[in-house]
Amino acid sequence: MRILVCGGAGYIGAHMCKILAENGFAVTVFDNLSTGFKKNVRWGKLICGDLLDQAAIDTCLNQEPFDAVMHFSALAIVSDSITQPGKYYENNVTGTLNLLSAMARHGVDKFIFSSTAAVYGSPETTTITEETTVNPATPYGASKWMAERILKDFEIAHKIRSVIFRYFNAAGAEPAGQIGEDHDPETHLIPNILQSLNGKDNNKLNIFGNDYPTPDGTCIRDYIHVNDICQAHLSALTYLQNGGQSDCFNIGNGNGFSILEVIAAVERVTGKKVEYEIKARREGDPAILVANSDKLKQRLNWQPEFTELDQIIETAWRYYCR
Ligand SMILES: NC(=O)c1ccc[n+]([C@@H]2O[C@H](COP(=O)([O-])OP(=O)(O)OC[C@H]3O[C@@H](n4cnc5c(N)ncnc54)[C@H](O)[C@@H]3O)[C@@H](O)[C@H]2O)c1
Repeated sequence: MRILVCGGAGYIGAHMCKILAENGFAVTVFDNLSTGFKKNVRWGKLICGDLLDQAAIDTCLNQEPFDAVMHFSALAIVSDSITQPGKYYENNVTGTLNLLSAMARHGVDKFIFSSTAAVYGSPETTTITEETTVNPATPYGASKWMAERILKDFEIAHKIRSVIFRYFNAAGAEPAGQIGEDHDPETHLIPNILQSLNGKDNNKLNIFGNDYPTPDGTCIRDYIHVNDICQAHLSALTYLQNGGQSDCFNIGNGNGFSILEVIAAVERVTGKKVEYEIKARREGDPAILVANSDKLKQRLNWQPEFTELDQIIETAWRYYCR
């Protein structure tokens, strides 16, 4: 099967390309390299292009008869989306719309979409199922929810079946340490803690808020290994190939860890002391977000391989040390 991986030069997309290639799929990456890196594209060919450029997507889809599209491309810094909502809606909503329209024109009918736990906003319940009310609190979350909504209409009109994955916090790196998480700026907790260990002042770790209604006052999140996310995508590909209906799944480990617990785990794994400063809360950060991924386990027969936080951090640390 030939798979088009949009955003395959980014963190999760690059891991996906490796796993697809290892499983015998032919991979093409479409990416504008706005937050991704050419060096990440090692398991397929790279077409440099922007999802805001309809002609570039058409040219890409003209090159090969793709069996399915995986769509990892997005702008994904929550705080930036609050200050630059237009940029986020344009990139994430219009970009997705352009991609789906091109797929409809070229008869590509299977789509796997990277959505986010941010579509739930700040839910009342702490363990979130796919039935939990969607109520995004930020333009980033809203842009993903709008893209999810558009998929329903494209299925009715153009028979494009889709699997939507709502990721919780992607973390870790492929265990051999060849690729890993490299955002610039880095807003994710684990790589930021690891960077803070080099003692440079500009890498000092900030904790945003220690007055949340959680046992130690810091936010609690669900960390899911990047390879476990990619394995779910692989299962989704088989599911859609076998005629499966469009569906939406949470992906998380089902365990919540506070920022201070993650820091303690990094100290255990690295043997180094983490220094940090407490800052004011950030807008739009819910206190607790933990996934219930039972639906994914039951319907796509998925099980996370990296169930322990220390295991996940070990892979990130191995990549960071390389
Ligand atoms: N990392 C996480 O914890 C997390 C959590 C929830 C959801 N997600 C979603 O997963 C996806 C992948 O996240 P990531 O952490 O790998 O991000 P990333 O920034 O590393 O990768 C995104 C890739 O998309 C490309 N891209 C962005 N806009 C584009 C456009 N208009 N045209 C072409 N390419 C474009 C970027 O250059 C980059 O290579 C995103 O959609 C993100 O919203 C990530």
